[in-house]
Amino acid sequence: MTSSVSELIDSYDPNAPLEQAATIPASWYTDQRIYDLELTTVFANSWQFAARLDQLTLPGNYVTADVAGQPIVIVRGSDNTLRGFYNVCRHHAAAVMTEPEGKASQLRCPYHGWTYSLAGELKGTPDFAGVCNFDRSTNGLVPIGQDQWEKWVFVRLGNFDPKASLENLLGADLIEQIRPLKLQNLHWLERRHYTFDCNWKVFVDNYLDGGYHVPHLHKGLDSVLDYSNYQIENGERFCLQWSPIVSEGAEAETGAVRKGERALYYWIYPNFMINWYDGAMDTNLVIPRAIDKTEVIFDFYFPDVSESARARNRASIEVGHRIQDEDVAICKSVQGGLNSRAYNAGRLSVRREAGEHLFHRLLYKDLRTAVGAGGGV
Ligand code: FES
Ligand SMILES: [Fe+2]
Repeated sequence: MTSSVSELIDSYDPNAPLEQAATIPASWYTDQRIYDLELTTVFANSWQFAARLDQLTLPGNYVTADVAGQPIVIVRGSDNTLRGFYNVCRHHAAAVMTEPEGKASQLRCPYHGWTYSLAGELKGTPDFAGVCNFDRSTNGLVPIGQDQWEKWVFVRLGNFDPKASLENLLGADLIEQIRPLKLQNLHWLERRHYTFDCNWKVFVDNYLDGGYHVPHLHKGLDSVLDYSNYQIENGERFCLQWSPIVSEGAEAETGAVRKGERALYYWIYPNFMINWYDGAMDTNLVIPRAIDKTEVIFDFYFPDVSESARARNRASIEVGHRIQDEDVAICKSVQGGLNSRAYNAGRLSVRREAGEHLFHRLLYKDLRTAVGAGGGV
């Protein structure tokens, strides 16, 4: 007999302390109903990274994105205000803006030429004379919540609840920890897209394993991290993993671009990561594309993005690239195993895997809330 979604959710015990806890069950990574529920709750109700502020500096700048499977567009208006909308034409639902980013004086749908102002108001409707009971003022682009933090714009599709403001969900602790890193001194240089043949949570779990896999899978990275002093610190909705950096015995390519005192790895529930080294930062946005397909967008930032720093920056990106390549095969392997009849759930390392434990409990809370206390889905 097939279990209900509610039963699948309740097969995880969120109250078990780490030393007794198991991972979320394999079905959460393989059951389409859980995936659909995650999109409409975890992703639609959280603040999701949508754009970098450096893409939206001038009036008319816009960025399109896909959040929780929904097309959206962020636009800087003539009044300099940022606004977010569903990127869906009110006529027959075509995407109004079709480029990933750009600059426009108005938002023009390519299908039948309807136009919207930068503030989302419907302005032009060619060949529409004689249409009755049609009020332009109620046919503007449908707005979504947006807010900014550090270098990024986040959006939220769900109903706006002031208690769930971006600031509240990030939390004062995280905001205070990131501020002294002075991210304003870092400049975006490059974006890369990676595809993983696994559920999005496999990628997040892999990220949150407290360095457990690093000595086995990432020899280069392992040579600069002090594995035995790797630390895991859970916040309310984020996890910081950090490690002292060692230079002695460092593999040459990695050692050349991973310097300084420490490496900081911030994960913010559910799917955004900030990886910070002295002189380099990258962010990861984990996007579910299918139950077993995940896109991860990497943005690379450096203090100096001039031509004179080009070789060093390229070398740094290449080191990051190699690490992702090393993770591709293992993520695919895990997804295969999660589909196996031999596996249901696994135990967690107390020393290493507190971050995964936090992730699984937060996820449980969201899914449990979504199906309601009585279950019955
Ligand atoms: S769908 Fe946009 S103008 Fe028709
Ligand atoms: Fe890895």
